[in-house]
Amino acid sequence: MSLSVLTVVGARPQFIKAAPVSHALAAHGNIREILVHTGQHFDAAMSDVFFQELDIPPPAHNLEVNSLGHGAMTGRMLEKLEEVMIAEKPDWVLIYGDTNSTVAGALAAAKLHIPVAHVEAGLRSFNRKMPEEINRVMADHVSNLLLCPTRTAVANLAREGITHGVHHVGDVMYDVTIAAVERARERSDILTRHGLTPKTYAVATIHRAENTDDPAQLAKVIAWLSERGKDTPIVMPLHPRTRKLMEKSGLNPAGIRIIEPLGYLDMAWLTHNSAAVFTDSGGLQKEAYFHRVPCVTLRDETEWVETVQAGWNRLWSVPDYEPRRDITDYGTGACSAKIATLLAA
Ligand code: UD1
Repeated sequence: MSLSVLTVVGARPQFIKAAPVSHALAAHGNIREILVHTGQHFDAAMSDVFFQELDIPPPAHNLEVNSLGHGAMTGRMLEKLEEVMIAEKPDWVLIYGDTNSTVAGALAAAKLHIPVAHVEAGLRSFNRKMPEEINRVMADHVSNLLLCPTRTAVANLAREGITHGVHHVGDVMYDVTIAAVERARERSDILTRHGLTPKTYAVATIHRAENTDDPAQLAKVIAWLSERGKDTPIVMPLHPRTRKLMEKSGLNPAGIRIIEPLGYLDMAWLTHNSAAVFTDSGGLQKEAYFHRVPCVTLRDETEWVETVQAGWNRLWSVPDYEPRRDITDYGTGACSAKIATLLAA
C-alpha cells in the first residue's frame, strides 16, 4: 500500500525547498504526494515561475489565502487546511521553514492527529519579535519528524526538550542549488539582460518585516546599501513588500539598481556571478556560500551561524569575517532522498 504525504507550501522559499523533495518522493515509487498551495505568495513572479522552472507538479489544492494580517492569514489557512486534510486523510503532513503557511499546516495536522514532518526544523534566531521565530518554535513543538539542516539546529531542539524524531539530514537548498547552477548556465540570460559583467557587482535583497515595516529602519538599510553601492554597483531584485514600502517612504536610492523579483534560475546565476551578497534573507545567506560568494547579513542575528563561523557571512554590525573554511553541515546534495527514506520508514 502506498503512503500519502500532504505537502503544504505557500511562500517563495517553500516552493524552492519543496522542489527536490517532491522529486525524491516521486522517485521513491511508493509515496503519493498531495501538494497544497496556501496562496500566500500569488504573483506570477513570486509563485508560478518557481513551479515552472523547478518542475514542481501543479498543486492539487490552492487555498488562495493572502494579503492579510498575521492572525487572519494564519486563521483562514488553518480552517481551509483542516478541510483538505480531513478529505485527503494523508499519512504525513510535510511542512517547510517558518512562514505563516508552515505554522498553519503544523497546527491543522496536529489537531487532526496526523503526524507532521518539518523540513528545516530547529533553526532559531532567539529573537521572538520575528514572526518567523514564533512560527518555527510552534511548528517544531507539534512535529513528529524534525528534519534538521545543521548540527546547531539539532542542539537547539535538544535545549527545548525535543530529542525524539530528530534527524540531521542536511540542507535541501544545497540539493536545489547544485541542479540550478547547471541549468542556469545554459538557460539564464540575466547578465546580458542587465548588461552585467561577472564579479563586478553585488546582489542585495530585503524583505524582512523587521527591516521594512519601520520607515526609519528601512531608510537605514537603504542608506547602508547606497554607501556600499559607491564601490560596487548593487543589483536589487525587489520583493513586492519592500517595493510597496519604499514607494510609500519615497526612497529612490543612488547606486542601487532595482529590478523585478527573479525566477530561481536567474537568481542563482545572478548570485553565482556576483562579487558580494547583502541580504536579510535566510536562504540567500546560504546560497551565497554554496556559490562561494561572501555575504553580509543585514540583521542583528542569524539562524545560519555556520556561515558566520566559517567566514563566508558576517552580520552588518560586525566589521570582519572569521577565517574562511568549508561547511560540512549542509550535506552533499542528497538531503531530499534522505527525507523521502525517513518518511517511508
Ligand atoms: C513571507 C514569510 C517570510 C519569508 C518570505 C519569503 C511569513 C510570516 N513571512 O514574508 O518568512 O521569508 O515570505 O518571501 O510568512 N505580496 C505580493 N505578491 C506576492 C506575495 C506577497 O504583492 O506574490 C505582498 C502581500 O500582499 C503583502 C506583502 O507582499 O502585502 C507581504 O507578503 P506576506 O505573505 O505577508 O509576507 P512576506 O513578506 O512575503
